[in-house]
Amino acid sequence: MDIVIANESHFKYAQIICDTIAESAKVRGTGIAKRTPEYIMKRLQNGNAVIALDGDTFAGFCYIEVWGNKDFVANSGLIVHPDYRNQGLAKKIKKAVFDLSRKKFPDAKIFGITTGLAVMKMNYELGYRPVTFSELTNDPEFWKGCQTCKNFDILTRTEQKMCLCTGMLYDANEKKSEKNTESKKLNGKAFQRLKEIKETLFLKKKEK
Ligand SMILES: CC(C)(COP(=O)(O)OP(=O)(O)OC[C@H]1O[C@@H](n2cnc3c(N)ncnc32)[C@H](O)[C@@H]1OP(=O)(O)O)[C@@H](O)C(=O)NCCC(=O)NCCS
Repeated sequence: MDIVIANESHFKYAQIICDTIAESAKVRGTGIAKRTPEYIMKRLQNGNAVIALDGDTFAGFCYIEVWGNKDFVANSGLIVHPDYRNQGLAKKIKKAVFDLSRKKFPDAKIFGITTGLAVMKMNYELGYRPVTFSELTNDPEFWKGCQTCKNFDILTRTEQKMCLCTGMLYDANEKKSEKNTESKKLNGKAFQRLKEIKETLFLKKKEK
């Protein structure tokens, strides 16, 4: 398996990346921002994405987005093809894109929003912590990305204060001042419960 920084030679994978993201969203039945092949190609082109290939076969992908005058970067669009799941590949891609983010944007805070327990676990192990949306970028372009998510009405209803996603943030400056750098494991059960509570609150309200 090769995990490499993407470039124009990977344009041919843009369609399968989009299809795999869309297909997984359908299966999960959860919200996800839709991406077009053109959108993915831009990310492949500017050296801000990581792709995993098994020979010539697409296995996984993730990209960096820069927000709010480079104060924040997000590692978005993580996808592993179903044929390659549960082998630790997402963890490797996440680590590669995290290292790339730290190298290219050393002063930026790294953040993400997700409903996925797998992503929360990986982020936590990399040193992210869960935060309220108010600690994330206020760049309107980032939040516009949520418009294609099926839960967007919740975000609008709460005036962008909360949604089904959990916000997670890695702040390099905060890390420097922390003495205890022991690796920690996320309490998955607590997050699953929190997600269920949010779903009950927000989705029930919507049905009324
Ligand atoms: C989520 C996804 C990227 C995981 O890829 P993967 O290569 O199978 O993940 P890994 O094997 O590297 O597992 C990483 C960790 O997540 C956990 N994990 C994987 N899938 C999980 C799931 N569905 N639910 C809960 N935890 C999961 C693993 O147990 C592992 O944790 P551990 O280190 O404590 O054992 C993949 O299932 C996927 O592409 N899903 C659809 C798209 C998606 O949900 N993307 C996230 C957008 S927010």
